[in-house]
Amino acid sequence: MTKIPLADLKAQYVSIRKEVNDAIQAVIDETAFVKGRFVKAFEEGFAEKNGVRHGIGVANGSDAIYIALRALGVGQGDEVITTAFSWISTAETIQQAGATPVFVDIHQDYYNIDPSKIEEKITERTKAIIPVHLYGQPADMDPILEIAGRHGLKIIEDSAQAHFAEYNGKKVGTFGDAATFSFYPGKNLGAYGDGGAVLTNDDDLAEKIRRIANHGALGKHDHEIGGVNSRLDGIQAAVLSVKLQYIDEWNVRRSEIGKHYTDALTGIGDLATPKIHPMAKHIFHVYTVRIQKRNSLKEHLSNKGISTGIHYPVALPFLRPFENLTYTEKHLPIASDYQDKILSLPMYPELTAVQIQSVISAVESFYRSE
Ligand SMILES: Cc1ncc(COP(=O)(O)O)c(C=O)c1O
Repeated sequence: MTKIPLADLKAQYVSIRKEVNDAIQAVIDETAFVKGRFVKAFEEGFAEKNGVRHGIGVANGSDAIYIALRALGVGQGDEVITTAFSWISTAETIQQAGATPVFVDIHQDYYNIDPSKIEEKITERTKAIIPVHLYGQPADMDPILEIAGRHGLKIIEDSAQAHFAEYNGKKVGTFGDAATFSFYPGKNLGAYGDGGAVLTNDDDLAEKIRRIANHGALGKHDHEIGGVNSRLDGIQAAVLSVKLQYIDEWNVRRSEIGKHYTDALTGIGDLATPKIHPMAKHIFHVYTVRIQKRNSLKEHLSNKGISTGIHYPVALPFLRPFENLTYTEKHLPIASDYQDKILSLPMYPELTAVQIQSVISAVESFYRSE
């Protein structure tokens, strides 16, 4: 039985092996391990490709959110509105900044924060909104921007899963006051270790972010404020610069695979395939379906050598660190319902036509065996 993983980082490495090896060797030859020209080149290249003035490399996508929150002045006693459905970092970092996460349910079709439910959560303590572009699909930014503008709230786009996805023809990460990215190896643009970045068009904010990420200093011993040690390292930056040349074609390939899955799987049993928002260019970081008997389908696919994932098995408000906020299912009916029904199928640019067909046939055979 040939196995089909959820993602295959080796297949991608093999396709760019020489360039990646040479790039890593160049960093070692120059001992440019932290900061230095490789980091600067990637920061500039990433910002430019996104059409944003400033790109600041940091240690990971979680730090990127924490640092952006602090740079925007979010702290003790503040509230930050975010989605009920994301990776823990989105909410954990709000707590790290000293603020309280306020969770909003997701849209039933798009899995992102439901803009129609944001306004009722705004109080005089609310300072910011963090929409997440989940699974590679942009959040519905127009109404979010409109609400934030009317209430004087900052926006941080958590773009960890959505490098170069677009909303209304504009790249994500270009709508808010700041946008944060993760380069965790499995991301669409992934490093060979941890990595992250913050993008912003605001010169002052960019300087603040740079300071906070580097012990509060821009130059050596220039510690103006308390900060953290959160820097992108040279090897990760060099690998990312190589991959930046390929990200567009990889994203196109992911979209093609997503379309192929959707064309084949829509209408089979109770399986709900992902819907794409009319304003969105979805870059399918993951391909997530919904089904009543999720665990049975997962097991069926596993028995056929097909790996799947659950993004995520527990909605954020129900995770232990947020228990004290006392959310219940009735506050978040969609997220509560979906956490038990979602399943992510194999998704990576190097999936072959034969592998895609195997996944489709395996899902079909699950319903035949029902
Ligand atoms: C939506 C989201 N936000 C934040 C992060 C945090 O990124 P990192 O793992 O690089 O800290 C991730 C990825 O793990 C993510 O998926």
